[in-house]
Amino acid sequence: MKILITGGAGFIGSHVVRLFVEKYPHYDIYNLDALTYAGNLENLKDIEDRSNYTFIKADITNETTMMSLFEQYQFDRVIHLAAESHVDRSINDPLAFVKTNVLGTVNLLNAAKSAWNDDFQNKLFYHVSTDEVYGALGETGLFQETTAYDPNSPYSASKASSDHFVRAYGETYGLPYVITNCSNNYGQHQFPEKLIPLFINNIINNEPLPVYGDGHYTRDWLYVKDHAAAIDLVFHKGKLKETYNIGGFNEWKNIDLVKLLCQQMDRKLGRPSGTSETLISFVKDRPGHDLRYAIDASKINKELGWRPSVTFEEGLNITIDWYLDNADWLDHVTSGAYRDYYLKQYKR
Ligand code: NAD
Ligand code: TYD
Repeated sequence: MKILITGGAGFIGSHVVRLFVEKYPHYDIYNLDALTYAGNLENLKDIEDRSNYTFIKADITNETTMMSLFEQYQFDRVIHLAAESHVDRSINDPLAFVKTNVLGTVNLLNAAKSAWNDDFQNKLFYHVSTDEVYGALGETGLFQETTAYDPNSPYSASKASSDHFVRAYGETYGLPYVITNCSNNYGQHQFPEKLIPLFINNIINNEPLPVYGDGHYTRDWLYVKDHAAAIDLVFHKGKLKETYNIGGFNEWKNIDLVKLLCQQMDRKLGRPSGTSETLISFVKDRPGHDLRYAIDASKINKELGWRPSVTFEEGLNITIDWYLDNADWLDHVTSGAYRDYYLKQYKR
């Protein structure tokens, strides 16, 4: 089986690529990635020489390239993760999100449909999406697969749109698809613009920890390898034309999470307890900030037997250790353009 994984040089994609390359030596894995600021082949150093792994540098917004790659390689299945993925960047540049997340997804759908030539036997378009398409919850309730889409940020609106296109290609052309909508991920190789790796990096460097608003926003956190395991399961056993929600059963208010992170970091860095908490700085809120996300993951649990394998404390522990042990990786990704982004986002 020839599997195209898009966005495989990014955070979640690199974990999915590694899992598939190592677990399925009889599958040919093609990692297609444009290597934007978020893509990093250092994430895959350990598997880059495997005989069942091929890297293709390409941009999903290029229709001609997508068509010809599908013709050339005759992919059987697609796991689509390539995206612009950061809410704050989407607020500053919505069009980039429309291009990659909407147009890029439609290009892939067209290329798959054309190459598969309406013979969909054993074919699959697996679209990886987010819980943010459902909008914001109040203090109670959970997102279910049937919850109406109600996106609030340009990022979530672009992901919602891409989900709709995937579903529409299933209904209109019979393209076989599955969609998963997952909660916030954390773990090794996450670019330090998202909450957890940004704050780990800032604690290491004694920089302020910019908590948006009053910090009482809630997210449901999942360890990235548990997301990759869920994708593996849905890829092989998920029902066509279905959506599965994936979540951590693990809700945290940002401020509580940040305090836990500070305590763990103080211990690991040998700093007196309470040192990192003094770095917390409440800053101007994110516009349109969604109050609370929380996933009801009972469908994937009941139908496919998936559940997270690590507790949040264990996952966070592994994650912090990885960042402390991989200072070179952090140095590489936080030089150059990262500094410009950081100044623009936090120091204006
Ligand atoms: P990421 O930003 O770390 O990685 C995205 C990857 O896509 C990068 O390697 C980048 O180079 C590549 N890419 C971007 N534009 C491209 C283009 N035009 N052509 C080809 N490649 C391109 O993102 P992530 O956090 O790993 O998220 C992966 C997917 O999972 C996304 O679709 C995202 O919406 C979804 N998701 C993420 C989370 C999360 O918490 N990070 C949660 C749920 C769902
Ligand atoms: P983030 O990691 O950007 O993920 P998402 O917006 O997709 O949920 O943010 C997680 C939460 O942390 C969100 O409520 C916004 C908040 N946050 C901060 O308070 N400060 C920051 O510097 C960042 C990046 C996020």
